[in-house]
This record gives sequence, C-alpha cells and structure tokens, in this order.
Amino acid sequence: MKPSGRKWAPPPGIDDRRARTLALIGSFYDACKVGCQGNEGYRKSTDLRKFAGCILELADRGLMDPARTVFADLGCADGRVNVMMSYFVRQSIGMEIDPEILAEYGPRKEALLAEIGEAGLETPPDNIHLFEGSSLDDALYERIYDETGLRFADMNLFYTYITLHDVFAEKIGREAEEDALYLVYGFHRVLPSYPRLDVLIPDVGGQQIAALFVKRTEGG
Ligand SMILES: C[S@@+](CC[C@H](N)C(=O)[O-])C[C@H]1O[C@@H](n2cnc3c(N)ncnc32)[C@H](O)[C@@H]1O
Repeated sequence: MKPSGRKWAPPPGIDDRRARTLALIGSFYDACKVGCQGNEGYRKSTDLRKFAGCILELADRGLMDPARTVFADLGCADGRVNVMMSYFVRQSIGMEIDPEILAEYGPRKEALLAEIGEAGLETPPDNIHLFEGSSLDDALYERIYDETGLRFADMNLFYTYITLHDVFAEKIGREAEEDALYLVYGFHRVLPSYPRLDVLIPDVGGQQIAALFVKRTEGG
C-alpha cells in the first residue's frame, strides 16, 4: 500500500503493520470486484487498493478520528469499504437495499479474517454495523438508532460509489451536521456541484477515483 514515488512517512494511525493489513484487505476484496469493467449494471465495487491511497490523505489531514468519526456507506454491498474504514473510525455503518448482496458480507469477512489471522495482521475492530434497507428510508434510521444509538445527524463521514450521489448530497445538505464530510467515488476531475456542500479535496490521495465534499457551515 505504500505509495510509489513518495518517501514513506506513515500518517497518524497507519504504522507498518496496519499498512500491511490494509494491503491484504485491498488484495482480498479486489480479487472479487463486481462490475469493474464497462457497463455492468448499477453495482460496482470500490477499488480498495486505490481507496487505501485515499485513506492515507484523510489520515494525513486529520479528517478521521477513531474517537469521533461515524462513517456511513449509503450503499454498502458486501461491506468491503466498511471493513477497511473500521480501523480509522469510531463506528462503521453500512446500508444496503439488496438482501442478497448484503448476505455476501458474512462469509466474505470470515474468509478475510482467516487470511488476516494466518498473516499475523490486525483484525478489524468490532465497530461494523450493516443494515438491510434503503438509506433514503426514515424507518431504516430508526433501526440503526435502536441498534447503535446513532442518528443520521451523528454520522459525519458519508460515502457512495456514484450511486444516488446527488440525492444523498441533498439529504446530507439538509440533515447532516455542519462540517460533515461526503466522499464520492467516481469523480476526481469534473466534479458535480451540490447545494450546501463545498469541494474540500478534488482528488483524494491523488488516486483519480474520489472527491471529498464538506457541508458548509451556516452563513458560510
Ligand atoms: C456501486 S455499488 C457500491 C458498493 C460498495 N459501496 C462499494 O463501493 O464497493 C452501490 C450499491 O448501493 C446499493 N443501493 C442502491 N440504492 C440504494 C439505497 N437507496 N439504499 C441502500 N443501498 C442502495 C446497490 O444495491 C449496490 O449494492
């Protein structure tokens, strides 16, 4: 995972063992990516090895706090982004509308844990909570609250891989706390503009996969 062409200086929270753990997670999930070529439908998997490069910049800039950050993948599929983010945040929440896709989470994570154990690397913290349902449905947030004690307004780092990015942006603009972050995979050069959100990092980690937006403060 060490970026080539840059002298390796681990950002806070990423020592060598963790870097090797992220590299293993990236290789594990990238070996079973969905829809990564051409027009293969609405489900596509984040390239986790590149995503690890985004994490480096977020960590470098102090944009993730293991004591405070509540991450939410608004269409999490098999939860792969949740697993990688779990090391850097307080809670890692995922929502997935398709139960069959969500069902991939358990067996895949079990296989991953076996590989992590064999390699003597770091197991993910016990902070991953995935839910079946639409991330646009208020009833889902009631279930999330019942299980985790967290409301939408407590989530402060949102994620989507293009899916419904503009609709989610509106919800974040309306309901999230000020300064909430929104990481959108699929844009890095030509960026969408969203009401009440500003671009914070146009090309996170220089990976050419994702842009980071921030909810504007009132009057800002
Ligand atoms: C492009 S995939 C991304 C999966 C995962 N976040 C990743 O990056 O590997 C989008 C996922 O969002 C799910 N989805 C679509 N609309 C949704 C909604 N309203 N609520 C929750 N999940 C949704 C789809 O079923 C699909 O699995």
